[in-house]
Amino acid sequence: MQTRRIFRCCWKKAGTISGGTTRIISLASKELPFHDMIIWDRAVGYNERYDSFTPCYEMILALRKSDDAKPYFNKDAVRLPYNDDKIQTYLRDKRYKDKAARLAHLEKGKYATNILRVPSLKGSSKEKAGHPSQKPIKLIEQLILSSSRPNDIVLDLFSGSGTTALLAEQFGRKWIGIETDKEYIDIANARLEALRQRQDSPLFKDA
Ligand SMILES: C[S@@+](CC[C@H](N)C(=O)[O-])C[C@H]1O[C@@H](n2cnc3c(N)ncnc32)[C@H](O)[C@@H]1O
Repeated sequence: MQTRRIFRCCWKKAGTISGGTTRIISLASKELPFHDMIIWDRAVGYNERYDSFTPCYEMILALRKSDDAKPYFNKDAVRLPYNDDKIQTYLRDKRYKDKAARLAHLEKGKYATNILRVPSLKGSSKEKAGHPSQKPIKLIEQLILSSSRPNDIVLDLFSGSGTTALLAEQFGRKWIGIETDKEYIDIANARLEALRQRQDSPLFKDA
């Protein structure tokens, strides 16, 4: 019997929420305390409107369970590596006398900011599985690694092609995926099955 599949379901608290991301964010912030606003910088703009600048980012709202809840956050899990040139430049900084300690520090990489720059998926991307707004693995990976521990439960109420479930499983988290559209559920379950067949390989990553 197959287990750990995405099931068809409709997540609804009280009727359909409509009115775009900002309205959903405003409604959600009324229910739970605000923690942070993270920006996904998609790197490439998309021509959705002609009466303003071309949109190039999406908002990711982080909320707390309660006012005094202390959310888990692992900054070290999502450090960004410096390239070799940067490391060599920083090593020349005369303020740091202990070069070995300085190198060890630089090799850990820098802390990521709350602007996550991850290019959105192109049609030709190897990651593309058939969902029109599929999220890049690199984006969801950073969210899961920074905000959950192994064996935590990751819930995605709008699962689509299952990117969240895929990454949660890859990193040893439990997960729950909810999605209304049968076509996307099939895609998600196929991606999960492929992952289980190739546990040792990277997740269909580009480059
Ligand atoms: C932005 S997409 C998610 C994309 C996903 N993160 C991925 O990487 O493939 C949102 C998904 O939510 C689903 N959806 C919309 N309303 C829903 C509801 N009320 N309950 C469950 N799923 C819903 C849509 O069918 C759509 O696939």
